[in-house]
Amino acid sequence: MFPLHLQPESHIPLYVQLCDQLRSLVHGGELRPGDRIPASRELAVQLGVHRTTVANAYAELESEGLISGHVGRGTFICGATSARETRHVPASVGLDGGLRWEALFADERGEEGLSRLIQAAPSGAISFVMARPAAEFFPIEELRNCSNAVWRREGAEILQFGPSDGYPSLKQALLAMLRAEGYDASDENLLITDGCQQALDLLCKAFLRSGDTVVIENPAYPGALAIFAGARVRMLGVPVKTDTGPGTTPGVDVSAVEAVLMQNRVKMILLTPDFHNPTGTTMPVVERRRLLEIAARFQVPIVEDHIYARLRARGEKVPSLKQLDRSNLVIQIDSFSKIAFPGLRVGWIVAPPNVIDRLRLVKQSTDLHTGQLAQAILAEYMRRGRLSRHLERVRKAYSARLAALEQVLTRLMPAGTKWTRPEGGMCVWVELPTGFDSSELLIHVRERGVLYSPGRYFYLQNPQPNTLRLGFAGLKDREIVRGIAILNEVLRLEMRKRQRGARRADVPRVALV
Ligand SMILES: Cc1ncc(COP(=O)(O)O)c(C=O)c1O
Repeated sequence: MFPLHLQPESHIPLYVQLCDQLRSLVHGGELRPGDRIPASRELAVQLGVHRTTVANAYAELESEGLISGHVGRGTFICGATSARETRHVPASVGLDGGLRWEALFADERGEEGLSRLIQAAPSGAISFVMARPAAEFFPIEELRNCSNAVWRREGAEILQFGPSDGYPSLKQALLAMLRAEGYDASDENLLITDGCQQALDLLCKAFLRSGDTVVIENPAYPGALAIFAGARVRMLGVPVKTDTGPGTTPGVDVSAVEAVLMQNRVKMILLTPDFHNPTGTTMPVVERRRLLEIAARFQVPIVEDHIYARLRARGEKVPSLKQLDRSNLVIQIDSFSKIAFPGLRVGWIVAPPNVIDRLRLVKQSTDLHTGQLAQAILAEYMRRGRLSRHLERVRKAYSARLAALEQVLTRLMPAGTKWTRPEGGMCVWVELPTGFDSSELLIHVRERGVLYSPGRYFYLQNPQPNTLRLGFAGLKDREIVRGIAILNEVLRLEMRKRQRGARRADVPRVALV
């Protein structure tokens, strides 16, 4: 079944929406040359639309050379197509007789499209694709000094095998930071990881068997979806409310979490309550308390992804789930990736001691331990008080960038476009007017040197094609303003084209016999 989602309430004709979405599946690599697409009658039933709508879309795509229909065989994505079908070649053997590795891979990797998008950024492009730190703030000289100091002092320890739960001096430095923030944590509550991505992997290995159920936000961080999908874990997506402002309760829909827990045996809940990736939303404290009460009632652990929480740009700090937890059911995962240096690949987990004990064993069988040079440098950097100063500096810079982005969105975006108002973090979530497909729009925006992440990469289910994520932290104010100006120009141009198209839409373009 294709991830197609038409919006009948839109002023954009359904066949145009369908064309856009199929085109973007091809551009995103989800449909490849030779893939067969459903017959128009079949797809019409699947989408609940008239067959003429699908036939019109297919006619349009065929005229563009993107698909071709073959009487009696079906409709295919164009390219090197039909030899396989006619020669009955086994799936794991290529047309040249060699091994087709792709046919042997154990699972399908959902994030592939997004990684490709990141790699494909033309040089000089203004890229809103990534939610990552700005490289101009990396304190290379200070880190070099820290590195020299640790080599001189503890070179032999760094080069030797070390404890799986982490390099002792980094654990001490992190515990000092956590205690200063009000956490009641000691050495047995802490395990160092290669970052939050590895933390998710370790938790998955420690707790989840194939077929177990986890609750996850929809949309969510694609790296988490990939971990669970790879482990054949059943994911149940709960909507994230993106309305912000007075009287709203942004963040995961807690009532929906409760409804899911009532009807399913859930093994774990994974949430990013602060500056959620991709929507930027933050759960209010009342909702956090309600969630904790529900999780305690059903005795389901919560994994709190705390990776963005220290990047607050404005507003009152909200206590973390871990800080509010009175039932000992929160595992917090965290990382230096967003607050400092993602390339060092260091993060940590705060959890009850028996959980840490188990995770230590899992970590041992995964990679023995995280690289000790990176841990020792970070420990020294923290010990010298540099991390808090760095964090203060980047927090201010990202906060100014967020303000610049909001200002230009408010000034330029056409009516019908909505976006979230994050209180920090690294991304803003945009909803284009209904009926627009952000993946299709990206093709035109990219031609003008601008990139963003289409929303569909973040959805577990029910993707909203008109959404997109803007990662702003790595861009300077002037790049943000220029990038949004280009997005606005392309969007308005497309709107005008579609309005013209809408006037033609009532006329059937294909005679169906
Ligand atoms: C919500 C979330 N969790 C985890 C990660 C991965 O973090 P790390 O670099 O610490 O592995 C990211 C990275 O983008 C993220 O956005």
